Amino acid sequence: MIKDQLGRGLTDLRISLTDRCNLRCSYCMPKEIFGPDYVFLRKAEWLRFSELDDLVAAFVRLGVRKIRLTGGEPLLRPGLAKYIHGLKHLHRIEDIAMTTNGLRLAERAGELKLAGLDRVTVSLDALDPEIAGTMNGRGVSPRAVLAGIAAAQHEGFQVKVNMVVERGVNDGEILPMARYFKQRGISLRFIEFMDVGNHNGWKMERVVSGREILSAIQTEFEVEAVDLSSSQQVAKRYRYADGSAEFGLITSVTQPFCGGCTRARISADGKLYTCLFASSGLDLKQILRANDYDRDQLFGLLSRHWGARGDRYSELRSQTKQAAHKVEMSYIGG
Ligand code: GTP
Ligand code: 5AD
Ligand code: SF4
Ligand code: SF4
Repeated sequence: MIKDQLGRGLTDLRISLTDRCNLRCSYCMPKEIFGPDYVFLRKAEWLRFSELDDLVAAFVRLGVRKIRLTGGEPLLRPGLAKYIHGLKHLHRIEDIAMTTNGLRLAERAGELKLAGLDRVTVSLDALDPEIAGTMNGRGVSPRAVLAGIAAAQHEGFQVKVNMVVERGVNDGEILPMARYFKQRGISLRFIEFMDVGNHNGWKMERVVSGREILSAIQTEFEVEAVDLSSSQQVAKRYRYADGSAEFGLITSVTQPFCGGCTRARISADGKLYTCLFASSGLDLKQILRANDYDRDQLFGLLSRHWGARGDRYSELRSQTKQAAHKVEMSYIGG
C-alpha cells in the first residue's frame, strides 16, 4: 500500500458534493460572512458524478476502502441517491458514510438506505432550541434534526451525532445531549472547537478540552474507555458502564491525531486536499477534463502526491505560523 512521508496509508476518502448549506453554523459558515453576497461554486464547477467515478476508481487502486460524503450539506446535491447506488455497486465500496445536518433526513432516509448508504453522522450542537438556533445561525429548532435521526435509526442506519462544543455557548448542553443520546443507544461525539477556515473567531479560550468534557460526563455516569490500540480512528471512544451506548471525544486541538491521518479530501470542484488546514489543493478536475487524460497517469499522479505528503497541522498548531488563507470547512467537508 502507498505510504506518505510519515508512513501513513490512504484508506479514507471524503468527498464534498457541494459547498452550499441550508444552515449557517457560527463555527463553520458564520452568517455575517456567508451572506446573500457570498460567491459559492457554480454548478458547472462541480465535478460531475462520472468524473467522480474515475477518481474513486483511482483511489480504490491506492487503498481507499471507506468513503464519506460531505458538503456543505450533501443532501442538497441533486442525484445523490443514484450516485450512492453507483458507489456501492460499481466500485464495491465497503463502507459509505455521510455527514449531514439532518434537516432533510427524515424524508430522505428510506431512499438513501435503498441506495446502499451504510452510515449517517448528523451534526447537532444542542437540544435547547435557543442555543441550537443561535449556533446554526438560522434559528432552526432541533426538532426536524431529531426527527431525521430517528428516521435514520428506524431505517437501520448506524447513526452518530457530532456536537461541536464551544465554551460559553453550548457547554451547558454536554450533559443534556449525553443523556438524550445515551437513552437512544446513539454514539454522540463531542468535538473540540477547531481553528478551521478563516472566519469563525477561533480562540483557545473557547475550546472546551476533551478532558473537561469527560469530567463533566463522569459527574453523572460511570464510563470506561474502549480499547483501540490497533485503530486509527479520529474519536477516542468510551462506553457507559451500563452498556447503553458509546460516546467519543474528538480532541484535534488538545490531543491531535495526525499520526493516524489516513484521510484524503476532495472538494466539490475537484481539488484534492491532504489536510483540513491546507491553504491549497491539487486541481484534479483540470486533469480529468484534459483531452489526453489517461487513467494510469492519474493513478501515478495521485500516488506521487500522497507519497510526498507530510501534513500534521494539528500537531504543529502552536509552533507554526498560520497560513494566510486556509480552506473553509464548508468547502472541504470536515
Ligand atoms: P468514521 O470513523 O468514518 O465514523 O468517521 P470519523 O470518526 O472520522 O468522524 P467524522 O468523519 O464524522 O469526523 C468528525 C469530525 O472530526 C469532523 O467533522 C471534523 O470536525 C473532525 N475530523 C475528522 N477528521 C479529521 C482530521 O483528519 N483532522 C482533524 N483535525 N479533524 C478531523
Ligand atoms: N470545529 C470543529 N468541528 C467543526 N465542524 C465544522 N466546523 C468545525 C469547527 N470549527 C464539524 C461539525 C460538523 C462537521 C461537518 O464538521 O461537527 O459535524
Ligand atoms: Fe452547514 Fe454542517 Fe457547516 Fe453547519 S457545520 S454550516 S450544517 S456544513
Ligand atoms: Fe490530518 Fe491535517 Fe487533521 Fe492532522 S490536522 S489529522 S494531518 S487533516
